[in-house]
Amino acid sequence: MTAPLRSGDPIVVQVALGTRAYGIVIGRGLLASLGARIKALRPGARVAVVTDQTVARHHLPAAEAALKSAGIECARIVVPDGEGSKSYATFETVCEAIIAARIERGDLVIALGGGVIGDLAGYAAASVRRGVDYVQVPTTLLAQVDSSVGGKTGINSRHGKNLIGAFHQPIMVIADTALLHTLPKRQFGAGYAEVAKYGLLGDAAFFSWLESNWQDVFAGGPAREHAIAVCCRAKAGVVARDERETGERALLNLGHTFGHALEAGAGFSERLLHGEAVALGMVLAFEFSARIGLIGAADAERACAHLAAVGLPTHLKDIPGGAPGIDELMDLIAQDKKVKRGTLTFILVRGIGQAFIANDVDAVEVRAFLADKLAER
Ligand SMILES: NC(=O)c1ccc[n+]([C@@H]2O[C@H](COP(=O)([O-])OP(=O)(O)OC[C@H]3O[C@@H](n4cnc5c(N)ncnc54)[C@H](O)[C@@H]3O)[C@@H](O)[C@H]2O)c1
Ligand SMILES: [Zn+2]
Repeated sequence: MTAPLRSGDPIVVQVALGTRAYGIVIGRGLLASLGARIKALRPGARVAVVTDQTVARHHLPAAEAALKSAGIECARIVVPDGEGSKSYATFETVCEAIIAARIERGDLVIALGGGVIGDLAGYAAASVRRGVDYVQVPTTLLAQVDSSVGGKTGINSRHGKNLIGAFHQPIMVIADTALLHTLPKRQFGAGYAEVAKYGLLGDAAFFSWLESNWQDVFAGGPAREHAIAVCCRAKAGVVARDERETGERALLNLGHTFGHALEAGAGFSERLLHGEAVALGMVLAFEFSARIGLIGAADAERACAHLAAVGLPTHLKDIPGGAPGIDELMDLIAQDKKVKRGTLTFILVRGIGQAFIANDVDAVEVRAFLADKLAER
């Protein structure tokens, strides 16, 4: 479905997971109804809101007012911004604060923030008292289309990102698109890479629609809600069919094996945001697919042209400070969890919207390809 919807009523996307099914509510200005929605879902529940300092400054007062107006008691737990908060130390702080707030079975944790807060608060909710329920209120585009849906929660290990965690599904996701007005444009663009990903991996019509409507998505017109809903519907479908990533869910990693290596090479820093690395990674996945004859050069050029048009990096030379050298890059790819002894697993494509899991990709071929890309000026 690619016809844009008029703005107005919220869009509800169901995640069909049997007794753990939940709704993703998408719309402009939904935060004002947070209290009423929580009260309807869980009358009498006590609530702890976990957020970061920046989101707290912009949106916590409105969230608290909405809860208060519905007569809901709430504690606030504010952690520093950024990936550094997905640590054992902050996890401990958050768990202890949730316990201190007397959140018990039947009560709720609310994750108000981007993917960092969703992953951290979700994992704390999964852990405190062996699991309390939580609601996701995603405030970045990335979180609204990706991380808030699907129940992957966790923190980082010194050995790598997201190595400590649990599957713990939220009981509701409230995606208020108006919250994105305060998001810096660069963060919005990084989230947009994941939006484009859904088109590139499984929905050619949506990708074409994005090519014509991306300006309105960025500007905050009605196309924004539509795009977010299409992404949530796609992710909800994949998650319902393959919750624990034994198969199809891996397609959501399009661009992520190359992307993670580049992100790690840049030290997970401001130099290269996750979504920017994914944009580069998707271009590489398309170009590699073209090189081994799966698609024609025109498809790779089209994917690249759209990502470049929205301002995302699409060439290795676009990375500030440069890309890692070929040896480091291959080491980083080999460390990625999607790699098994010698043969590499990549998500490759047979066309726009036709991604598949390729389990037997020749490492020598990948190395030659990346060496050529690194040599490009
Ligand atoms: N669980 C999953 O399935 C999943 C999927 C993808 C990514 N992730 C995780 O998500 C994280 C990245 O998430 P992210 O990109 O949302 O980053 P983030 O949570 O760090 O947010 C980015 C920055 O934007 C700020 N911010 C958030 N909302 C804002 C708003 N409305 N206005 C102004 N500033 C705002 C934050 O304070 C932060 O500084 C990574 O840790 C990644 O591992 C998880
Ligand atoms: Zn991603």
